[in-house]
Amino acid sequence: MENSIKEVLYSEEVIANKIIELGNQIENDYKDVEEDIVFIGILKGASIFLSDLVRKISIPVKLDFMAVSSYGMSFETSGVVKILKDLDSEIEGKHIIIVEDIIDTGLTLDYLINLLKVRKPKSIRICTLLNKEVRRKVDLDVDYIGFEVPDGFIVGYGIDYAEKYRNLPYIGVIDS
Ligand code: IMP
Ligand code: MG
Repeated sequence: MENSIKEVLYSEEVIANKIIELGNQIENDYKDVEEDIVFIGILKGASIFLSDLVRKISIPVKLDFMAVSSYGMSFETSGVVKILKDLDSEIEGKHIIIVEDIIDTGLTLDYLINLLKVRKPKSIRICTLLNKEVRRKVDLDVDYIGFEVPDGFIVGYGIDYAEKYRNLPYIGVIDS
């Protein structure tokens, strides 16, 4: 399984330190809010990042999840977003933080934000572990970014290629 990893970008330790940093930043930004804070993890990729991140935050937060289709089995995003699982709870009047594993073209999040805005949350912010700015096709304000990654197909720490590699403890690039 590991023989097609071309390069390790971020080790387990480097990821853990970055998550402490992001957690502190988020906690500090939200410590005085009165409304509910809801972390929305985008399944499945963000599940590992989200679960590590929220454990570094000590103010009360809620969790919810959405699942959307993006890549299927190919390397390129189609631009077509399909909601496979919607939120379980209402977000009106709440502070929501959308948690992504990696933002590439930005098409998925652009679509999701427009969809969630209609439900009138108090605020919407985006937190992504990885950001591929060079590939962006739409304007997106990303509030919390772990690492800026080079173009290349990234896997590990929740991120897959055709459902493989999600359980790698580090983040690497595969041949594509
Ligand atoms: P976007 O809509 O192009 O921004 O793509 C969003 C989704 O595509 C991410 O949430 C990932 O699930 C997936 N994705 C983008 N780049 C990569 C990558 O390098 N490796 C694995 N999945 C990726
Ligand atoms: Mg994803």
